[in-house]
Amino acid sequence: MRLPFLLGVPPRLSPSIRQELSRLRTFVVREDLACPPELARQLASLAHRMQREVGVLVSRHGTVVYGLVGRSWPGLEERLRGRRKGLLCGLRLVLAYNQALSEPTESDLDLLERVRLDLLVTVGHRKGTPTEAWVSFLDHRGPRVEGPLALEELETVRSTERIRSAEAALRRLPGDPEEDRRVERAILVGLQVPGRDGWSTDGTLEELRRLAETAGAEVVDVVLQTRARPDPGTLIGRGKVGELRSLVELEAADLVIFDEELSPAQQRTLEEELGVKVLDRTALVLDIFAHRARTREGALQVELAQLTYLLPRLTGRGVLLSRLGGGIGTRGPGETKLETDRRRIRARITDLQREIATLSRVRRTQRRARKQARMPVVALVGYTNAGKSTLLNALTRAGVLVEDRLFATLDPTARRVRLPGGGSAVLVDTVGFIRKLPPQLIAAFRATLEEVTEADVLVHVLDVSHPDWPMQRRVVEEILADLGAGAKPTVLALNKTDRLPAGEAQRIAAQTGGVPISALHGIGLEALLLKIQQVLPEPVTRVTLEVPYAQAGILHALYEHGRVLARRDGPEGMRVEVEAPCFLVRRIQALLQRGLSGGDEGGPPPSPRSPLPWI
Ligand code: GTP
Repeated sequence: MRLPFLLGVPPRLSPSIRQELSRLRTFVVREDLACPPELARQLASLAHRMQREVGVLVSRHGTVVYGLVGRSWPGLEERLRGRRKGLLCGLRLVLAYNQALSEPTESDLDLLERVRLDLLVTVGHRKGTPTEAWVSFLDHRGPRVEGPLALEELETVRSTERIRSAEAALRRLPGDPEEDRRVERAILVGLQVPGRDGWSTDGTLEELRRLAETAGAEVVDVVLQTRARPDPGTLIGRGKVGELRSLVELEAADLVIFDEELSPAQQRTLEEELGVKVLDRTALVLDIFAHRARTREGALQVELAQLTYLLPRLTGRGVLLSRLGGGIGTRGPGETKLETDRRRIRARITDLQREIATLSRVRRTQRRARKQARMPVVALVGYTNAGKSTLLNALTRAGVLVEDRLFATLDPTARRVRLPGGGSAVLVDTVGFIRKLPPQLIAAFRATLEEVTEADVLVHVLDVSHPDWPMQRRVVEEILADLGAGAKPTVLALNKTDRLPAGEAQRIAAQTGGVPISALHGIGLEALLLKIQQVLPEPVTRVTLEVPYAQAGILHALYEHGRVLARRDGPEGMRVEVEAPCFLVRRIQALLQRGLSGGDEGGPPPSPRSPLPWI
């Protein structure tokens, strides 16, 4: 939660004093000055009139980020500790005491140490006029205190030197001060355009939060801006960018992530204005993919997508990237840092395309082999985190990675599953879909996604416990249509029904025609398999049959509806090795057992061509 600018303000306060307190925000403090005398005077005057201590927290860029009154500032200490990155918290506290003496109290020195303030400047006053000041900062033994200083002397205290020496001293302390740097602090930004679809909403920002957390960021604030139309230069408008800059400083954010796709120019402008790394949803999704790719093919595809995304964004960015020092959005598969040189990137893209093409040929050969074996292929598709891997595990005990994170699965995993009516099919898990799946990814993952376009049947796994499942269903259907797989026979698996109130699953099933299941608890799987079987092209099986000459009519059906692989004629009958639909084989086996040749077992009369006319 964001804290208000003013903390500790008493409830009854004259409007003029409140206004003066609010105006503290407009002070700009020169970066190298511990405290300009005008600020000391203003704080002293307010402290006198309010008969309380009054202070400000100032960032290293000189912006006043909080105004403080009295001694109780709810939530502040926790917030300051959260923003500490490594050594110091990046803020100095300037505090006017309500007395002439300004030597820092023990409790203020404790605070300096606990939250690792950059500096603590304490000012005393007599009837609102500053008398003296003290400057305290940390060194390796604890707080060091300088003073008393006259107001004019305060102007000569260089804050940057003190901060540098404090950091140098802290660096010599045992322990790993870099530890805290690992988690990047992110602010999320979305743009809402009333009356137009496809822009941000609270729901899409919630999804962006999950994505950011999956990438390893800590989300410190979320901003949803509303505009009649997007600003071509900055997307959210200049004024909002100004506010965002203050927020970045206030929260000591390391990066800002936009829910919308940014043009290369917008991204550059925003990075210059905000002074931190700026990513869009696409870069974030690519970064997650980069981390999660497990097979060689997956890693190559992600790298290709990342480089294609990066190439138009490179002007002047090489410098910025190195200045901002890596982290989310700059990581490539296998932990290598992404290359930032245009010529080398182009060459690498060509190499990657070549390697991927080779692997696709291998994949195509595997698919051909499956086809020859007449094994029907069922592809699991669905929104990320819908439960595809869990379902694949439940159906095949394949042991595919299951995690409550987005995009746990990047590489398709193929497993064989037995169908209730006999026969089996190949089940393949595919990469999860998401709203605005980056086009670079779709292009790079073309080979993987061919598993979907080439499958016989799709099982669309839908997490119906998600409040926005209709949107997720729509997104998946749109992507399938884009891939040219929109008209494929599809079974809708309504997953995670264990999380729904009683009756809700049935209601959604009636509304959608889907099969309610819980992949996690193994509920409804039999019904799902039956449904898959119904829409599958008939499952085939390979058997060897002994067909007596008396029942030779059966042979005709085998030739017509199956594939006769070998036949040997013996003295009493034929030995036939055949691949045929399972139900046909079962039926024929029953006929053989009873010595019938079809038609005379009570079914419709035999046709002249086939002894099994009901097939
Ligand atoms: P991606 O790899 O992102 O595409 O995810 P996925 O669709 O493969 O989802 P996965 O199987 O990894 O499951 C995501 C989370 O949902 C995991 O925490 C699962 O335990 C959970 N989950 C899956 N099925 C069910 C279910 O039937 N009920 C409940 N309550 N949770 C489930």
